[in-house]
Amino acid sequence: MNFKIAIIKGDGIGPEVVTEAMKVLSRVAEKYGHTFDFQEVLAGGCAIDAYGECLPQSTIDTAKAADAVLLGAVGGPKWDDVPGDQRPERALLGLRKELALFANLRPAILYEELSQACPLKPELVRGGLDLLVVRELTGGIYFGEKKTGEDADGKYAYDIERYSEKEIRRIAQVAFDMAMLRSKKVTSVDKANVLDSSRLWRAVVNDVAKDYPEVEVNHFYVDNAAMQLVRDPRQFDVICTSNLFGDILSDEASQVTGSIGMLPSASLTTGNFGMYEPVHGSAPDIAGQNKANPMATILSAAMMLRYTFSLKEEADDIEAAVRSVLADGYRTPDLLSNESDPEGLRQIGTVECGNLIADRIY
Ligand code: IPM
Ligand code: MG
Repeated sequence: MNFKIAIIKGDGIGPEVVTEAMKVLSRVAEKYGHTFDFQEVLAGGCAIDAYGECLPQSTIDTAKAADAVLLGAVGGPKWDDVPGDQRPERALLGLRKELALFANLRPAILYEELSQACPLKPELVRGGLDLLVVRELTGGIYFGEKKTGEDADGKYAYDIERYSEKEIRRIAQVAFDMAMLRSKKVTSVDKANVLDSSRLWRAVVNDVAKDYPEVEVNHFYVDNAAMQLVRDPRQFDVICTSNLFGDILSDEASQVTGSIGMLPSASLTTGNFGMYEPVHGSAPDIAGQNKANPMATILSAAMMLRYTFSLKEEADDIEAAVRSVLADGYRTPDLLSNESDPEGLRQIGTVECGNLIADRIY
């Protein structure tokens, strides 16, 4: 089969990790007889440097015309003084909105091989950890009305959290669909003891739940959810939540696995289209040093094969290759330096890591 993939390498370690993911994709293409047509475009700080804007229209057009987007990371200290509406991060928000990527899937998996990396007590994660944060990505306070002004009390600023029933319904449906493929449990997270928007959220989630009688549903306030994630993370299967709460809880969930360098993500539309990117950022401190862990981006490419291209076997193949490299003791620096590291681990760089994974796909 033939697929067009828009490649947005971005800033910091983005180019390095995406290059390795492209290497792995090319190997998959060879093995299974597919063609991946990579179309590289700029977004983020590098686009500010090249075009004076973080998200050029040509990038949006190429992304829209592609079958999927693979993105590295954007941002860095170099662009700290750029005005708010042109910061590199705005490119991400712009892509999400322009491409209507309302459903953000952020799996947090604790690989058995990396159980040492988990900062929680071993008994809390015995048997592994596998949860999925389903975050609403194009609504809520990120995109609500906002204003900075001045009145008799001095300066003021506000950002409005607004959700429509339609927005809540479609993200809840994604969460329940995902739960049906997993352990059939959805935890919806809100702040319904305080917020109107959360009370609507909860009512709509309960309504959607009626269509999924096999799925168990419960509701947590966000403060409690944050606590439960470190108290007993195995109680979660799918967490369904708003844009802002999902931003916070997905970082927490990723830290619970101890290895943010391992975590992929997918941002999906109602169709099959999606943008795939690692959960980690651009890590400017280690950029260009062959130190970054490319696994999150490589696993994001696997998610792309699974969700957008429906190439399940190929996706399984990549995931198995990653696990096999870990099982053989290879570790990028982010996965090392823990005093409780088992013996016999071998430190590798970004490029070597990509090569090892690609070589296991044959
Ligand atoms: C994320 C990031 C972004 C967000 C930032 C960079 C705008 O934190 O993808 O989680 O808040 O959504
Ligand atoms: Mg975030």
